Amino acid sequence: QAIYLSDYRPPAYRVEKTELTFDLDSHATRVKARLKLQRHPEYDAQAALTLYGHGLVTERVAIDGQTLLESEYRIDGDQLIIDQVPASCVLDTEVVIDPANNTALEGLYVSGPMFCTQCEPEGFRRITWYPDRPDVMAVFTTTVIGDRQRQPVLLSNGNPIERGELPNGRHFVTWEDPHPKPSYLFALVAGSLECVRDSFTTMSGREVALELWVEAQNLEKTDWAMASLKRAMVWDEQAYGREYDLDLFMIVAVDDFNMGAMENKGLNIFNSAAVLANPQTTTDATFQRIEGIVAHEYFHNWSGNRVTCRDWFQLALKEGFTVFRDQSFSSDINSAPVKRIEDAALLRTLQFAEDAGPTAHPVRPDHFIEISNFYTLTIYEKGAEIVRMLSNLLGEETFRRGSDLYFERFDGQAVRVEDFVETMAEVSGEDLTQFMRWYAQAGTPQLAANGDYDAEQRRFTLTIAQRTPPTPGQDDKKPLHVPVRMGLIAADGQPIELILGGESYGTDTVLHLREVEQQWVFDNVDEGAVPSLLRGLSAPVRLEYPWSRDELSHLMRFDEDGFNRWDATQRLALMAIEEMMVAHQRGELMALDARLIEAFRHLLREPTDDKAVLAEMLRLPSEAWIAEQQSHVDIDAIHGARRAAIEQLADNLFAEFESVYHANQQTEAYAPTPEQIASRSLKNVALSYLVANGEPEALNMALAQYEADHNMTDVRAALTLLAHSDRADLGDPAIRAFGERWAHDSLVMDQWFATQVTRPQADALERVRFLMNHPAFSIKNPNRVRALVGAFTQQNRVNFHRLDGEGYRLLADVVIELNRLNPEIAARMIVPLTRYHRLDDKRQALMRGELERIRKENLSRNVFEVVEKALA
Ligand code: ARG
Ligand code: ZN
Repeated sequence: QAIYLSDYRPPAYRVEKTELTFDLDSHATRVKARLKLQRHPEYDAQAALTLYGHGLVTERVAIDGQTLLESEYRIDGDQLIIDQVPASCVLDTEVVIDPANNTALEGLYVSGPMFCTQCEPEGFRRITWYPDRPDVMAVFTTTVIGDRQRQPVLLSNGNPIERGELPNGRHFVTWEDPHPKPSYLFALVAGSLECVRDSFTTMSGREVALELWVEAQNLEKTDWAMASLKRAMVWDEQAYGREYDLDLFMIVAVDDFNMGAMENKGLNIFNSAAVLANPQTTTDATFQRIEGIVAHEYFHNWSGNRVTCRDWFQLALKEGFTVFRDQSFSSDINSAPVKRIEDAALLRTLQFAEDAGPTAHPVRPDHFIEISNFYTLTIYEKGAEIVRMLSNLLGEETFRRGSDLYFERFDGQAVRVEDFVETMAEVSGEDLTQFMRWYAQAGTPQLAANGDYDAEQRRFTLTIAQRTPPTPGQDDKKPLHVPVRMGLIAADGQPIELILGGESYGTDTVLHLREVEQQWVFDNVDEGAVPSLLRGLSAPVRLEYPWSRDELSHLMRFDEDGFNRWDATQRLALMAIEEMMVAHQRGELMALDARLIEAFRHLLREPTDDKAVLAEMLRLPSEAWIAEQQSHVDIDAIHGARRAAIEQLADNLFAEFESVYHANQQTEAYAPTPEQIASRSLKNVALSYLVANGEPEALNMALAQYEADHNMTDVRAALTLLAHSDRADLGDPAIRAFGERWAHDSLVMDQWFATQVTRPQADALERVRFLMNHPAFSIKNPNRVRALVGAFTQQNRVNFHRLDGEGYRLLADVVIELNRLNPEIAARMIVPLTRYHRLDDKRQALMRGELERIRKENLSRNVFEVVEKALA
């Protein structure tokens, strides 16, 4: 059932031109396709033509105008095979599809009042018979026919070239996309939509019309995405020399969408949650997320569309590079260290967990059963880290020369990861053969570092060893080329000049670890130097170094790398919490290390111009990250110890948190600027500590902030504190009022669902079951499922892992239902159930039991693949 990279063969037939006609109807859309085919010179006349299709009612297949008899072709599962066709011919097909019953949300489907599509990776085959693979690139012409009243707007890729009226209240628009593209970039949208227009002048002086299409009620939520798009367009010109290549760029917001958004050529389709925003309804975090996703999809126009992937094993070629590009964009226009902290935290908690679990896979997998399962943190985030390492290894300028050459050389082609890396090797003269292993080896490499000081010689010796643990199907790992950015901090807090082999490397350098173990000897170092290692998380690895708590406090204060100041704080807090976990397990009193309290006191008292980083430093490591460090995960001890640490910090530093809270009140009008976001973030962290202290006074502050109703960031922060407190007399009315006020806005209702089911109290699971019957909930809408079930299973660890197994049962019930409706979402939702390997026996048995129960169902390929791996 699995497909292997090593089986790759170029397609026997290319498509030079694709002409499509859609006659839209909710239950019976007729799709006519005319493909101009050309046999590949490597193949002979015996080469069969293979087309892919899924769920199509086939009404006609014709070659060069001759309708084929059913005996002249065969349909085998998802393939239509014609044994012999001329070297150059025209294929006509006619099929009927049912968009209204398409709950998988792949191909053409209905979302609210509109028709829309999602074709990546293999959705196009649910629309028509086609060589649906990314290495088949064609020029598309698309005619969309719809009802004048119900579908006044008819969109597809490229430029509109013709429109007109038809009998029976129908009308049509014909679109032409001059850029050859694979079928996964095809898009169609039709419905009753409103448009916000703007324009952009490119660096060469071309005028591009920008259009943002939304349902009427969302018109007041479009400003931010439009502004973000223009920022992204400027940035890509400046940072990468990439200019937009059509006269029109469209974005459409749809409510039912499996992922965040999709980079269809000239017609990006977005999950409304990833594009619509305004201060009353949207939090700072979502503003920033939208900015990043709008940029991401736009950047794909070059990294993905102009240069695309040869096959789906190369997915990280476009995704890793594009994520790296959107991260750099966000970092340039917001707080750079905080952006890095957020990205690194995501990688270290969720991607490391993926690497350590049953679905671990290389950034370039070598086989899969269902490609939709591979839109993972490993492909996206670790993929981006690999590109980041390349950029750091080569230096920004050389990297830019490499990317220029890559775009120039492979423009209009479908290529492989090698093509990208070899271009970088060529421009830099670096040997990147060992580096390529990053794409092939799964698992998170572990670095064990040690320092040794020789007082007589005034030498500091740093030893670093590397090892990548085995992952399913990959037992032996070879050493990787790991860039380790580092510095040494002197006892007085000053950076030390790094002298290696008589040469000076300044105060910050990158060590190249290539062997299983390597040593570096730094000369002229005074006693008491503390190494700062892996600055900015210079490689996607775990690092151990025997820092003492005093050394960590030293790094917290003096490291000039903001990221490592944060990392030192996390490490110090982790040590303190782990010691409290032991006390928890022994039933002893959990006392928080006084050094952490003092370090926090220092942070809170010292004036800082980097509030954004300070806010991050004040957040204790998440339960997920703490769990990542344990060989045996004790859910309750982690939760209890972390909670106790927060309370003790709050008790000891109440006055400090209070003054930070007051000092960061805002009077100006809300704007999602980095400065405002930083003070809100700091203020709301402070408030969370104040509330944790349990003083009624603090809850009243939260209530006042909630009622002040200044902006959604502050409202949501306050609402969460109220709803997660034990004071039902405050939480319940706030939740009720919020739900009534926002009943008309599904994106805000998603926040409302998530806020309720992430409360730590024991009734959270009952709330999930209760809210699943709420009229605003629908299992068919992925955003609702994520807000309710996803938030509960992924962010409420104590309750999901309840010892009575009810959390697991709930998730399995949902997965079984989703398996029939939307397999892609089902396979995503099931993941928490597969992460049982380091839990206690009781929970392991319960989780495996639920997986076994799911296995008995008639499983989609998506869920089958995950369940088989999990139970292997
Ligand atoms: N290429 C899209 C993006 O990263 C994601 C599409 C994912 N599609 C899917 N069926 N999982 O922007
Ligand atoms: Zn992408």
